[in-house]
Amino acid sequence: MDLTYAACKLLLFFLLIFRTSHQCCATGINANQTAWLFVNVSENPPRKIPNTMFGISFEEINHSGAGGLWAELVSNRGFEAGGQNTPSNISPWSILGDESLIFVSTDRSSCFDRNRIAPRMEVLCNTDGGNMCPAAGVGVYNPGFWGMNIEQGKTYKVTFYVRSLQPIEMSVSLIGSNALQKLATADIIDENVTNWTKKEILLQAAGTDPNSRLQLTTRKKGTIWVDQVSAMPLSTHKGHGFRQDLFNMLADLKPGFIRFPGGSFVEGEWLVNAFRWKETVGAWEERPGHFGDVWQYWTDDGLGYFEYLQLAEDLGALPVWVFNNGISHNDQVDSSVILPFVQDILDAIEFARGDPTSTWGSVRAAMGHAEPFDLRYVAVGNQDCGNKNYRGNYMKFYTAIKGAYPDIKIISNCDGSTRQLDHPADLYDFHVYTNANSMFSMAHNFDHNSRSGPKAFVSEYAVTGNDAGRGSLLKALAEAAFLLGLEINSDVVEMASNAPLFVNANDWRFNPDAIVFDSSKVYGTPSYWMQHFFKESNGAILLNSKLQANSSSSLIASAISWKNPDSNRSYLRIKVVNFGSNRVSLKVSVDGLDKNSIEVAGSTITTLMSSNAMAENSFSEPKKVAPTTSQLENASNRMNVVLAPYSLTSIDLLRKSNIVQVAGCNAALWSAPSREDEEREERGVELKSSAMSPLSTVFG
Ligand code: AHR
Repeated sequence: MDLTYAACKLLLFFLLIFRTSHQCCATGINANQTAWLFVNVSENPPRKIPNTMFGISFEEINHSGAGGLWAELVSNRGFEAGGQNTPSNISPWSILGDESLIFVSTDRSSCFDRNRIAPRMEVLCNTDGGNMCPAAGVGVYNPGFWGMNIEQGKTYKVTFYVRSLQPIEMSVSLIGSNALQKLATADIIDENVTNWTKKEILLQAAGTDPNSRLQLTTRKKGTIWVDQVSAMPLSTHKGHGFRQDLFNMLADLKPGFIRFPGGSFVEGEWLVNAFRWKETVGAWEERPGHFGDVWQYWTDDGLGYFEYLQLAEDLGALPVWVFNNGISHNDQVDSSVILPFVQDILDAIEFARGDPTSTWGSVRAAMGHAEPFDLRYVAVGNQDCGNKNYRGNYMKFYTAIKGAYPDIKIISNCDGSTRQLDHPADLYDFHVYTNANSMFSMAHNFDHNSRSGPKAFVSEYAVTGNDAGRGSLLKALAEAAFLLGLEINSDVVEMASNAPLFVNANDWRFNPDAIVFDSSKVYGTPSYWMQHFFKESNGAILLNSKLQANSSSSLIASAISWKNPDSNRSYLRIKVVNFGSNRVSLKVSVDGLDKNSIEVAGSTITTLMSSNAMAENSFSEPKKVAPTTSQLENASNRMNVVLAPYSLTSIDLLRKSNIVQVAGCNAALWSAPSREDEEREERGVELKSSAMSPLSTVFG
């Protein structure tokens, strides 16, 4: 090494130390622990993190879909939730008018073959005579899912089917929570509805009320049947039926994949109540709906197999379909008679990917999606490995799917992390629910696994129990540490998703969850915000990093280099979890990156933290614990960063896009990579850079 170069480096280093310690003291923060992080950007060959690494797992649990992401406002729109025998319960529908005015029962006279139940309203009162109907009329109303969110100026499409032997005069209204304020109303007058007749009305709301209801009323004596009553806001995402605010929460995570529709929901407590995809496609009016007996609620299956695939496409995420393999929590199909179930799944894949002229591809095309969906992953069951028939059934599904679709990746329920699988699979499913300390330690779960064989799909992970509260910061930090471990082990872990994703605050079946909502509001828990720190990792380059600390047990870090596709600018991101109660002074040294190749103005530091590790968000304080970003004043290849107790920190160094000359000292100590260099880097070709020597020798 030439002497001038060495002297220059030494000078730069002392200047840097002076600058960073000066900045540290200027902020008035006294760190009481020290740690060192060494990152090497020129490691070869570069390791690409899978494009699918971080995604989401959507389950119909906690009314995530029905009464959640699926924007349908009417609950039990087909009146089937009470079962197929009459008389049946019409809940949550209620009757307007006492027994002297109206008699409501159910019969099996619907025009829809797969859902025959329809309510029959025998109106006893009239517009005149001795038994006058009240001015507001009599009929039925639906409160939605704990209230319908009706917003002023927005338009709602109300659809229903009606039949009567007499001419009808009805009103369809959206009513505010005080049961008096009409937010919108329309009259339906028809001389002849002796055959079932479809009615479609657009209602524009004149006021806002998150706890509204839909009413069908009349003041005319006679008998009226109604069925399949729907109220949909027109303002759903792309008109595809997804509640826009909840969709946005998902889209903001930039998920690489979406796993659906469960979870245990896929299995059912009993097979008879499991999700059956064929009952969820085609015209919504003809879907029978089903009772999800694991999470104990009815869904009309408006959010069906087609809509899940559409959701994945709208999110730009790969769909991962979890199908029932003939096993529920309490019963199972014997492998000797499983073939009809296998055929059912082949039909489903044809529905998703088949030519529009194929039997099931044509059903998809008729639903408005001629192009195949990009289904590349299927999971054979959920948490079913321990069941007697799992392997037998699995092999039948595996052989048939691989035979017809060799490119589809098949996910086994059996854990391949501790021992080699005894059956073929492309990936194995891995679920973990545990306390915060153990989740933090699990960051190292995949460190020593075999690097060959199927990769892991960590499709459900969450801190649960007391540490989690209803979504604490502590939970988020332990999960962040786990994800850092997965990122580092992304050669053996291909995908990961937190679970559950959503909870309707009125039906907290499984706690905790990432996103909490009610009819009109939504907030992310710290765990949701934690996932934002990983959204740039999909497809990024994992950098070699090494953490040294006198008490390293509460720290974990990883480093990536990623490119913002919008600005085409490249960043180096370092993420660190401080899981301890001490402040830590972290001395970062990035080898292979010259200080002059970093744009201080565009470099940032983002933290997720709170003075209380158990802090949670709520409807009243939705962003009490949320990431805050500020400019990183001391952005450099050698810098000192103070990590707050119980925090997740992301340091983003913006890399200059041009070659940088260091005036008066060494010319071009390091050249920022050109686009071609970066493309080569992504392809795994050696990137040439004249790197400074590692600072580990200084700090170490
Ligand atoms: O994520 C909630 C539930 O936990 C899932 O339905 C199941 O797979 C797991 O046991």
